[in-house]
Amino acid sequence: MSDPSNLRIAGISAAVTLAVSGLITLGFASDIFGSAVPQSAASDGQSAPQSTNGAKTKEAEQPQSESSSSEAATPPSTEEQPAPPQADRQKDQPIPAPDVDCEVARCVALTFDDGPDKNVTPKVLDTLKKTSTPATFFQVGREFAGNEALVKRALADGHVLGTHTWTHPQLPLLNPDELNEELANTIAASEQISGTRPTLMRPPYGLFNDAVIDKTIELGNSVIMWDVDTEDWKNKNPQETAKRALEGAHRGAIILMHDVHPSTAEALPTIIAELRKNGYSLVTIPQLLGNPTPGTVYYSGTLDQ
Ligand code: NI
Repeated sequence: MSDPSNLRIAGISAAVTLAVSGLITLGFASDIFGSAVPQSAASDGQSAPQSTNGAKTKEAEQPQSESSSSEAATPPSTEEQPAPPQADRQKDQPIPAPDVDCEVARCVALTFDDGPDKNVTPKVLDTLKKTSTPATFFQVGREFAGNEALVKRALADGHVLGTHTWTHPQLPLLNPDELNEELANTIAASEQISGTRPTLMRPPYGLFNDAVIDKTIELGNSVIMWDVDTEDWKNKNPQETAKRALEGAHRGAIILMHDVHPSTAEALPTIIAELRKNGYSLVTIPQLLGNPTPGTVYYSGTLDQ
């Protein structure tokens, strides 16, 4: 299925793209050198990216697949399957992908960084399950040990797993070997635990440069930023976290949260209920973006506000 953001990608020239990308990178670079950057894995202590561009790419030409026919590929069921008891269905079945077309519907993607966390991630998963809300997790490799069951559960529940490096470093400061280890090792470890290879990467602190983009192309990953920052890592206040999520929400929004803060888990039921009340469909990043392209940087699913 084609996607409005992908269509826009095709129209962005390489020169403009690189210029914008460079400006953004420089902006973040001044943050690196001009002020202290939190070192904690639990702190994405950068302000949200200010760009409202839906997506950018190094490559001027992005092939557009017109594969809308794939939607009709599911053959009709010819056999009646007996329905299991409701309780069993809820416990064992993954959260169904919402039957929405994000080119039409008001889709929003909830994203959670820095986990898995043995205390908070289960609470977040419980709420998502209870409310049939699919989400996207950007997980840190060094947190996998001892939390393998949470990684598997997130995938089994119907969520999408992305990566967020192994040790949460500032990627532009790394040499090529270090960069490769941070990205490739985390992708490999996630795949080893879950059985599914992640194709989405979120750079810590939102920091990336051309070397990072080149590496994600090599690894078949796209770069997923955000355009709504709940600042949950800073406020650690469920009311404030929810307020920022709801006030920032718009069609195509990618909302940044962290499943390592109890306050975020506490805010989540309100965020989900209010977004739905306001007419939003909650979807995963792949649902929001159509089919994310490796090496492309996405800030949201649409230019619409
Ligand atoms: Ni982070």
